Amino acid sequence: DADAGQAYFDHVMAEDSRIEPRDWMPDAYRRTLVRQISQHAHSEIIGMQPEANWISRAPSLKRKAILMAKVQDEAGHGLYLYSAAETLGTSRDEMMGQLVAGKARYSSIFNYPTVTWADMGAIGWMVDGAAICNQVPLCRASYGPYGRAMVRVCKEESFHQRQGFEILLELANGNPAQKQMAQDAVNRWYAPSLMMFGPPDDDSPNSKQSMAWNIKRFSNDELRSRFVGMMAEQVRVLGLSLPDPEVRFNEDTKTWEHGPLDWEEFKQVLAGRGPCNAQRLERRRQAHDDGGWVREAATAYAAKMAAKNEA
Ligand code: 3HC
Repeated sequence: DADAGQAYFDHVMAEDSRIEPRDWMPDAYRRTLVRQISQHAHSEIIGMQPEANWISRAPSLKRKAILMAKVQDEAGHGLYLYSAAETLGTSRDEMMGQLVAGKARYSSIFNYPTVTWADMGAIGWMVDGAAICNQVPLCRASYGPYGRAMVRVCKEESFHQRQGFEILLELANGNPAQKQMAQDAVNRWYAPSLMMFGPPDDDSPNSKQSMAWNIKRFSNDELRSRFVGMMAEQVRVLGLSLPDPEVRFNEDTKTWEHGPLDWEEFKQVLAGRGPCNAQRLERRRQAHDDGGWVREAATAYAAKMAAKNEA
């Protein structure tokens, strides 16, 4: 019953151990997980678009093959995460339906355009780098299927980040035009990648509860600061610079600091008024429709197999 269930749930939280699909859980805990995991899955699927834009334009066969592998990984991450969300009783059709109807959130970062090849490097190094900072702690999320999905995802994100760093390193060591293209990409992706971590802590309505439930392990600002530190160290190896003169390590607080971010822009992107929101949704709708025959064939095949097994 609910009393025994709540007592068990509270014990699991206090012990910082795991809640599994068949365990009793508060409705609000379930809702928070469906919200976050479905958004995470949507982010992976939409995130395929900015990168796929360069598969047919990659500068070499090697780069094309690596980029294709990365985009396929993102699709897999999405399917992994939709499966984790389904264990909470929400169907994939319902989640996909919310996305194509424009009713679901996905990461703000994917509403920006990828205008040069160097953006593939910046996305790998910065966006996947930010995703790693955010996803490593999620490996310890209190909900079993989510934490376990993150372990596999993080291993693949590391490859994504390294290939992005290598693209930037090659360009930065190239001719002046290539170096400028790499710097331009870093300049454009810097602030949007910092905003991936969510609004400032004092404007983050979900954080307190999410941390009490051992879903979010560190605050938005804390992970953002870690990410700035990671980039500040690595950008020197690239011989490039971060477009933020206020990046510095505060010896007293032992944290990395950065300049102000445009949270009005963030709000506009979340409201659907970012540079590429409409295009991303339109492409997703088109892809969903184009995939209709696959779903019909799979359903017909499943029915045929079921009938055969009954006979
Ligand atoms: N983009 C879109 N919406 C965002 C956002 C972002 N970057 N950051 C915050 N929001 C939304 C939240 O969803 C929330 O809105 P809601 O209540 O309507 O859902 C609101 O802004 C307030 O933010 P909070 O900080 O209160 O919300 P959370 O506690 O959920 O924290 C989060 C936001 C840190 C993004 C958290 O949801 C999270 O860790 N999600 C899982 C990680 C994730 O989604 N990563 C996407 C990265 S993309 C990726 O991994 C692909 C890579 O492989 C390239």
